[in-house]
Formats: sequence, C-alpha cells, structure tokens
Amino acid sequence: MKIKALKGFKDILPEEAKRWQQLEELIRELLKQFNFTEIRLPIIEETSLFARAIGDTTDIVEKEMFTFPDKQQTLRPEGTASLIRAVLEHALLLQKPVQRLFTIGAMFRRERPQKGRLRQFHQLDIEVLGSESAFVDAELMALADRLFARLGIDVSLELNSLGCPKCRPVYRKELLQFINTCKDSLCKDCQRRSESNPLRVLDCKVPACRGQIDAAPSIQEYLCEECAEHFQSVQNALHNLNIDFRLNKFMVRGLDYYCRTTFEFITNNLGAQAAVAAGGRYDGLIETLGGKAGTPGAGFAMGLERIVLLLEQQEQKEGAEEQAEADIDLFIAGLGEAGQERAFVLSQELRSMGSRIGLDYEGRSLKAQMKLADKERAAFVLIIGDAELESGKGVLKNMLGEIGGGGKEQEEIVLEAEAIRRIIGQ
Ligand code: HAM
Repeated sequence: MKIKALKGFKDILPEEAKRWQQLEELIRELLKQFNFTEIRLPIIEETSLFARAIGDTTDIVEKEMFTFPDKQQTLRPEGTASLIRAVLEHALLLQKPVQRLFTIGAMFRRERPQKGRLRQFHQLDIEVLGSESAFVDAELMALADRLFARLGIDVSLELNSLGCPKCRPVYRKELLQFINTCKDSLCKDCQRRSESNPLRVLDCKVPACRGQIDAAPSIQEYLCEECAEHFQSVQNALHNLNIDFRLNKFMVRGLDYYCRTTFEFITNNLGAQAAVAAGGRYDGLIETLGGKAGTPGAGFAMGLERIVLLLEQQEQKEGAEEQAEADIDLFIAGLGEAGQERAFVLSQELRSMGSRIGLDYEGRSLKAQMKLADKERAAFVLIIGDAELESGKGVLKNMLGEIGGGGKEQEEIVLEAEAIRRIIGQ
C-alpha cells in the first residue's frame, strides 16, 4: 500500500518552493525596512498556553487543536501566544521596552480541508509588543498593504474596534438583549455561542442567521471615550497614508484576545477562504500570560498558502510565459572516465568561486547529458571529452542565446575555472 500525505497536509514541490522562496525574500526585505527582527519559535507548546491566550470557548481551542494524548502538549495553532511566551520567558521587554518581532512557520489546526484551508499551514506573524499607539495599528496595516501591492495582489481592508474590558461588557449586554429577541430562529451554534461568547454570533455565516444578525447593534457605537479616540486615530492615520478601508461592525475574529482595533485583508478570489491576513490589538494578553500588567500589544498574521494560491492564479491569468531565467549557470558534460573526472574537479572549483554548477554522475551519453542540462535549465553547457582533454579546450554552448555578441552559440574555451567563469559570469 502506498503511503500518502495526510488529509490537509501538503507537500510543497520544488517548482512551488521557488515561489515560496521569492515570497519569503520579499517579506524579509520589507520587514527590514519596517524595522522588524526575526524570532524563531518551537512548534509544540504547553496546551494551557493556547487555552489561556486564545480562549477556552473558541473553535480553535474547543475543536481544532492537535493535542497529544497526554493533553499537556499541543502543536501550535497560531504564533501570537508562543511569541509572547518567548518574549516573557527571556525578559526581552526589559532589554527593549518595545519589541518589533516577526516569525514565519507552520501552524496546525484540525479544520475541514478545502481550497486555501489546510491542517498544516504557514503564517507570517508580525507583532509589536509594548506600544499602545494608534500609529502602530495603522503601520501594521500599512505594512500588509505594501506587501500586497508589491505582490500585485488585490485585497480590501476591513476594520473594526472591539473596545476594552470597560466598554465591551456594556455592548455585550445590549447584544445579548438583541439576540434574545431572535434566539429561537438562530442556528444551534449561535444559540450555544450566545451563552458562551455572544460576540461570535456576529460573524455566523449561516444565511438564515445573517438575515437576523444584520440588524444587531454596532459595537462601534458603544466604545468608551478612550477606545473611540484610539479608533478614530487609527482611521485618521490610515487616511493620511491613503489606505482604503471599510468599517465592518460584524468582524469579531475567532480568537478571544483582541481588544480595540481588529482588521482583516480580504480577497474575492479564494472562495470561502477570504481572509489573507488578519489581526489586531491585544492589550490584555501579555498580562494574561504572566507579563507586566498594562503591557499593550498588536499584530497580525498572513496565511502564506493563500498568498501563493493568489500568485499562481495571477500568473495563469496573465498567461505568464515559462521563465527564460536559468536555474544553474553551467552544466558540465564530462564524457568518458577522464572527461568525467575533469568535469568533477572543475565543478568544485567553479562552485567555490560562487557559480551554480550541474553535473552528470552516471556516465550518460552526450545526448542524454544535453537533455539533462536542458531540464535543469542551465545557461551554459561545457562539453569535455577525450579530444577536448587533449587540446585543453572544451566546447562551451550557450543554451539561452549567443555568446559575447556576433550570434555565436558555441565556442572553444580553455579548461580552467578562471577562464570559464569569465564567460559564464556569476
Ligand atoms: P487567524 O485569523 O486565525 O489569526 O489567522 C491569520 C491568517 O492565517 C488567516 O487570515 C489566514 O490567512 C491564515 N489561516 C488561518 N487558518 C488557516 C488554515 N487552516 N489554512 C490556511 N490558512 C489559514 C491568527 O492566527 C492570529 N494569531 C493573528 C494575529 C497575530 N493577531 C495578532 N497578532
């Protein structure tokens, strides 16, 4: 019986991995500009970390976590809780009162797999710990916006404020009153949530519920003075940066740690899995996880599989031609035992000079090696057979065009690394 990957777990094959590398390179370059540094975190944590941070009654903690049979340890379903745990464990906020950190890695949720929704997926997670400033919230959105613009991905930004422990209970009471007027016609999940976590009723996707819930009161009208002011400052900062957004009073997010600003970047091109990046402010979370009372924080995470899917769609739409770009600079085709030996030594010399070199190790025919060079997308092929060894000059073929002008597609070249490198370049 053939063993296959598990449902919801995906191999990233070499061609796709190239796209991931390009994406990660771009991300890292942009994050440098925004003054973020990387932190790398373990993928298994104590179960209680997630239960405490994300909330006992959330879907993630209730039914989606991959928890080991001993119940003590869990594969991380998100990055924020782990990142804060690490910052507190190593007292990083004492070294620098505002920490601007990012991490990229695999997350695990036992969800029903579908396009853009996996059980192992990757997030770019970006967090700012120690600042309450509305500029931070706006800057996080500006960073995501810049990344989407650089990638040519079309998204829209939705914004809400969930208030704070002072004003949210007032709203919660109002919302409960509203829910009670229509509770009987809501779905089972909503009825259950109205007991445990009534705000989650607001983002129910069941059409019959939506009809009722659309008339719910808006949390934005119940914000206390400080939260209203903060929310306004975030909006002003976004206006000043010319970043478009839409206020969405129904956006409550699936994790309980948020307060004040929440936001989501949405696409119309991935069916039901519309959120490509999402996050917000979580001013009470650091304290909940054992940090100093009143330490604020904000951040967001981006689903990298969803971004890669959008990039692929975009390429298909544009009918992008196969890239003419080479994967290796030179393929050395050694023929016969002596030719192979010379090819082997030359390959090591050229690699140590920085060139990307491909080689045949199986003593294939010239024709077979030329085919291989083509498959490996080599810019040049150097042929070394007995005649070439005798004359000290190999045949260099340009696979992508001409050599040094004049329409020549092949030429003889001294079999020395320096001379070869001068022609094939970096
Ligand atoms: P989240 O909304 O659960 O937030 O996830 C953030 C993003 O991860 C989503 O918008 C989506 O792009 C991607 N994502 C989530 N689940 C899946 C899945 N099953 N398959 C593929 N992609 C997925 C968080 O995780 C928060 N920790 C974000 C945050 C950081 N808030 C503050 N800081």
